[in-house]
Amino acid sequence: MNELVSLEFHDGVAVITISNPPVNALSPGVPEGILSSIQSAAGDPAVKAIVVIGARRTFIAGADIREFGKVVSGEKPRRSLLPLLREIEDCPKPVVMAIHGTAFGGGLEVAMAGHYRVLAGSAQVGQPEVKLGIIPGAAGTQRLPRLAGVAKAVEMCAFGQPVGAVEANASGIADAIIEGDLLAGGIAFAREAAARPHTKTREREEKLLGTDPVIFERAREQAAKTRRGQAAPLAAIEAVEAATRLSFDEGCAREAELFDRCLYSTQSKALIHAFFAERAVSKIPDVSQETAVQEIRRAAVVGAGTMGGGITMNYANAGIPVTVKETTQEALDRGMANIRKNYASSVKKGKLSQAEMERRLALIAPQLTYDGFDQADIIAEAVFEGMTLKKQVFAEIDGIAKRGCIFASNTSYLDIDEIGSVTRRPELVVGHHYFSPANIMRLLEIVRGRATSREVLATSMALAKRLGKIGVLAGNARGFIGNRMLTPYLREAQFLLEEGASVEDVNNALYDFGIAMGPLAMSDLAGLDVGWRARREFKHLEKPGVRVPLVADRLAEMGRFGQKTGRGWSKYDENRHASPDPEVAALIEQTARKAGIERRAIGRDEIVDRTIFALVNEGAHLLGEGIALRAADIDVVYLNGYGFPAWRGGPMFYADTIGLKTVVNRIEEFRKHHGDELWQAAPLLRRLAESGSSFGEFDRQKQAAAGV
Ligand code: 3HC
Ligand code: NAI
Repeated sequence: MNELVSLEFHDGVAVITISNPPVNALSPGVPEGILSSIQSAAGDPAVKAIVVIGARRTFIAGADIREFGKVVSGEKPRRSLLPLLREIEDCPKPVVMAIHGTAFGGGLEVAMAGHYRVLAGSAQVGQPEVKLGIIPGAAGTQRLPRLAGVAKAVEMCAFGQPVGAVEANASGIADAIIEGDLLAGGIAFAREAAARPHTKTREREEKLLGTDPVIFERAREQAAKTRRGQAAPLAAIEAVEAATRLSFDEGCAREAELFDRCLYSTQSKALIHAFFAERAVSKIPDVSQETAVQEIRRAAVVGAGTMGGGITMNYANAGIPVTVKETTQEALDRGMANIRKNYASSVKKGKLSQAEMERRLALIAPQLTYDGFDQADIIAEAVFEGMTLKKQVFAEIDGIAKRGCIFASNTSYLDIDEIGSVTRRPELVVGHHYFSPANIMRLLEIVRGRATSREVLATSMALAKRLGKIGVLAGNARGFIGNRMLTPYLREAQFLLEEGASVEDVNNALYDFGIAMGPLAMSDLAGLDVGWRARREFKHLEKPGVRVPLVADRLAEMGRFGQKTGRGWSKYDENRHASPDPEVAALIEQTARKAGIERRAIGRDEIVDRTIFALVNEGAHLLGEGIALRAADIDVVYLNGYGFPAWRGGPMFYADTIGLKTVVNRIEEFRKHHGDELWQAAPLLRRLAESGSSFGEFDRQKQAAAGV
């Protein structure tokens, strides 16, 4: 009992309420409050049963993740929840956990120490610790298999996906689903339970008997595929396996060893960094929380191509009616056919019902005119990449759109201010840069033009959330954050080819580093024509005498656009499986020799360092120029838009783990070999390295200065 945990009495039932907003995490004071409340209720002869419940939006959402950082840095010792859980479980009176919202991690572990769990219909329970690079650390891997069975426990602990009330009930985690008022239902359940004997979860052995070892083998295979490079899922499987071989106490000890090993790993630091970075990203220092947010009731999209189609789906998925315009019936039909195909594939996979698909399609109005655009609160533009066309479209919509309508361009590289200059409302012009496939990728770069208003930025951030995206603010630089960093990354990937590495060497080295797809494979997926067009648009900016990649344009000129034409850097079969193309290898070698580039054997370390440090250095430029607000924002962009492995925390966090001095030294080596024009450590990177600082420290100081 303290200000975080209260104890009340309802006619023989003690009700313990946890109130630690926003998510009732087990911060210091909460476990102590629960313990003293349990002890008081246990010792009170008038109490027959106990109900534990969360105040406001949720039950306990887990341990307080901020505390892990303090443990790892030695600021605080790690305090185990196990004694508290044993006290709950040993309570002579039945303890009923009444769960709504999310009982996650330590929250579910507390719940499983109770004798019963009753769930609101919308509640979710889970052990998502692996997403933070750790495993359940308070006997979750030991109690969950005893309640839910070994297979379910392995699935939940190793892959971190939560389950809803119905599944929790069917699997044995929950004892009842409560319709109506949860507290009243929990108290009624507790009264009945007081009349019966109750069992301790740790003594329930029946679901552990006769476990088939194949469960663990399969889970390991699945982890190798879907959690490539990550240690925590394997540790979680090992911990659940221990529950089937060891006594409860020995199992807990094994779990604690594995937990500590994970907690002190770089992977967990990286994943915890990613967790907080994703939540900090929506905070813009000069846009206060009180800034007015415009309600988006209707949307319109110009262009139903690859991106326009996905953007249209985003609006329909969020229940927002959306009009989409094309130039020809053929393009419109193709766009709508793609949208239908995407929805149908979700229905086929069981992710969407047929009725929901029809409901979403009914929200989309395809047409060849601007009819109805005067009703839209936002118009998203996704026509071909080209300044003249974009300006023409913006001038047209400016003549039609209602007052206050936001204009959002999906341009990949072009200047938002120049696009907006043809309108009478530059303050309402913003970049909404989605990533392909736009209906799936979570990232949305929100590009701030010179005149973009704070209301438009606040509305864009809120809209991103509503569309299920993570909005990241970017300044109006060519390529914004993600694509600007991609330019030197892809440049180095191609230089490495010219200097002697094969397409497969480069792709594999970065895949093994953990990136979802090697750089040349990614270019083939995006289409080699995209970069080719962009380079033509910006040809006038190339500096004479500075080395540029030589082969990509040749491939595009040959009609090798990548996957879509079956040939690019690699060859693709009808299932889009890649294989090496000797024609490309010969072209690279020939081109390099003609240009007098020395060919040599190139190792994996060089491939990784040159490409990843090119990303980091460009990221440091963006930070220094204020194009990105925080190093962590850059990490969020790369984790959610470019397949950078979350367990490495993003390029900037990765650089911190290597040490910025080491990064600068390596860049200095590259400068010596490849020249000042290509390699110069960014001033900010150099400054941080010289003062022994880090990007993380830079962010902390900036946050503190802004008072955020
Ligand atoms: N510890 C500390 N802060 C937490 C937290 C936690 N476990 N969970 C959420 N928060 C904070 C967020 O940082 C955010 O703070 P902010 O407003 O200052 O940015 C705030 O709570 C709200 O979080 P969301 O924006 O994520 O709110 P949502 O409503 O979208 O989601 C949630 C709520 C589903 C609970 C989601 O926050 C979540 O998944 N949290 C993490 C849950 C988790 O991983 N639990 C396991 C922790 S590890 C553990 O328990 C170890 C144990 O085995 C010993
Ligand atoms: P796309 O070629 O698939 O589609 C463009 C569509 O715009 C075509 O269907 C075309 O008919 C239509 N269009 C052209 N002029 C029009 C007009 N006046 N009115 C209505 N429709 C018109 O191109 P894509 O890939 O969808 O790109 C669109 C924009 O999104 C570009 O600015 C591109 O840089 C950007 N982008 C592309 C990404 C990608 O991966 N393809 C990723 C992020 C941004």
